[in-house]
Amino acid sequence: MSPAAVGMKDAEMRDLAAYFAAEAPARNKQADKQATKPEALAAAEKIARQYYCASCHMPDYSGQKHIARLAGLNSEYLARQLRGFRNGERPDIDGTMASAAQPLSDQDIELLANYLAAFELPQ
Ligand code: HEC
Repeated sequence: MSPAAVGMKDAEMRDLAAYFAAEAPARNKQADKQATKPEALAAAEKIARQYYCASCHMPDYSGQKHIARLAGLNSEYLARQLRGFRNGERPDIDGTMASAAQPLSDQDIELLANYLAAFELPQ
């Protein structure tokens, strides 16, 4: 993304952000089959509760203010972002996600990514 963003003016970024924010999210048709297994869903729900994911991202994972919607995003994308926050490869606004991702094991990340990808999008 850096090469695409490097020459952009602030006003152009604001216009693009407004444009994409106004788009209705599409359902993720590739939600991982893993996520449909009740044991995997239950395990992921427990991890999400343990680390208060919904307290910032909202109980339906629709997000709020600058905190991203997670419901229905691609599971590979979600897992990559979580590993990136944990390993310091993806910087975040205020370090919140870097700390939230610290305790997550690779297995936790896989479970969470599949769980969130399969989450129903808010209507
Ligand atoms: C204290 C608030 C807070 C908590 C708790 C929290 N998050 Fe976040 N999350 C954020 C913020 C703020 C961002 C935006 C980070 C940025 O890019 O600057 C974010 C971004 C993300 C992203 C990236 C989304 C994208 O579109 O790239 C993922 C994935 C994510 N969070 C998952 C989680 C999971 C899973 C948990 C629980 C383990 C969690 N978050 C807990 C505040 C929080």
